[in-house]
Amino acid sequence: MTPAVLNAEASTSNGHANGANGVHAAKKGSLDGFGTRAIHAGSEANEETGAVIPPISLSTTYKQDAIGKHKGFEYSRSGNPNRNAFETTLAALESGGAYALAFSSGSATTATVLQSLGPDAHIISVNDVYGGTFRYMTRVAAENQGLQTTFVDLENADDDTIRAAFRPNTKLIWIESPTNPTLRLIDIPRIVSLARSMPSDPLVLVDNTFLSPFYSSPLLQGADIVMHSLTKYVNGHSDVVMGALVLPAHRAAVAEKLRFLQNAIGAVPSAYDCWLAQRGAKTLHLRMKAHGANALAVARFLQQSPHVEEVIYPGLATHPRNDLAYRSLSPHARVFVDRYVKEHGDEAGGFPYGGMISFRIRGGADEAERFLTSARLFTLAESLGGVESLAEHPARMTHGSIPPAERALLGIGDNLVRLSVGVEEVEDLIADVEQALEAAAAVSKA
Ligand SMILES: Cc1ncc(COP(=O)(O)O)c(C=O)c1O
Repeated sequence: MTPAVLNAEASTSNGHANGANGVHAAKKGSLDGFGTRAIHAGSEANEETGAVIPPISLSTTYKQDAIGKHKGFEYSRSGNPNRNAFETTLAALESGGAYALAFSSGSATTATVLQSLGPDAHIISVNDVYGGTFRYMTRVAAENQGLQTTFVDLENADDDTIRAAFRPNTKLIWIESPTNPTLRLIDIPRIVSLARSMPSDPLVLVDNTFLSPFYSSPLLQGADIVMHSLTKYVNGHSDVVMGALVLPAHRAAVAEKLRFLQNAIGAVPSAYDCWLAQRGAKTLHLRMKAHGANALAVARFLQQSPHVEEVIYPGLATHPRNDLAYRSLSPHARVFVDRYVKEHGDEAGGFPYGGMISFRIRGGADEAERFLTSARLFTLAESLGGVESLAEHPARMTHGSIPPAERALLGIGDNLVRLSVGVEEVEDLIADVEQALEAAAAVSKA
């Protein structure tokens, strides 16, 4: 296999991609399954040394043979071999993507997109958007650039209600699906077609952090921009904070504008972080399959527990949008899921759909806290998407800044627990959940 086939235009030996305009295009070749792309795209052997893994290039500046005559790099904020190589990987992984841009965090990515809209723009956002995105929209962009945001329940609102939210200056629709932490699903093609019918023709952005490019391909569903907090599944090892945008070929002008801002604002990741994230992304397909299978098994166990009131996992047959979850699977996830269901039959009770589960424990805040402090494999911590299992209490941790009344409307009660199911042995995870639930139940009895 020649990896160059996978990315004929995009890469040279040092991972430098398409340096002229700083935008990296991924081209499909013949050997382009998802896992193959994860491992090879943007990651070919170094021409000089033969090193199979790209070297980390720490230089901040690059020699010019004459003024303006260089090998594609001038100054590391504008582009460096590791960032370009990783952007090539990402553009190849997010199906339908042609341009990828990496940032120093998911939040810096959000800030750059919203700044690109200019002064006094209006956007529509899903109502239970990630708290940090909500904060940037309402407390930074609103103040600094006059951004107006209308928050809409994009899962349940009917078409007329959504249409009524549009204004002549609506420039963007911000979707997260599944939402956090109640894992509600948005029908992306429906929102795209509503957006296309409006005179301002807004861009549709999907924050694909929770499902990763493995389970969901929003660009194939008509979205214009995909955003990731790479801090989560794409890097997958809880050791890098980073974000990214991926755009399709027909959004070259938008990509160019964002590329300009990436350099002008300068919220760029280090070469070392790009190298780590590229290493993490090589196993994305393996990890996501394991996260999904483990999460489904844990969700099924929780469902049968007398200590649990409700389990929320979109892959479960009992989830209200289970059919939408299946319909919206990426083409490569569909192959995995169909095979999984065939092998496990009805016993599966659903299908793998990412690694995030929320559940309502019987009782309230005390039982939830006892569960969280009793679990031994599920570490009590914020964040998600790493190989290790994590658990948290949204009402007092990730969503603590949302006023209680608003939290209640969003279904974030005191007995809600969120799990990021890792890739440990599933029997151990289930045993841990079982003993932590028993410990929590003892609180009610005491
Ligand atoms: C869905 C989602 N989007 C964006 C972000 C922000 O990313 P970061 O923490 O990398 O700034 C997060 C972080 O938790 C998130 O969960």
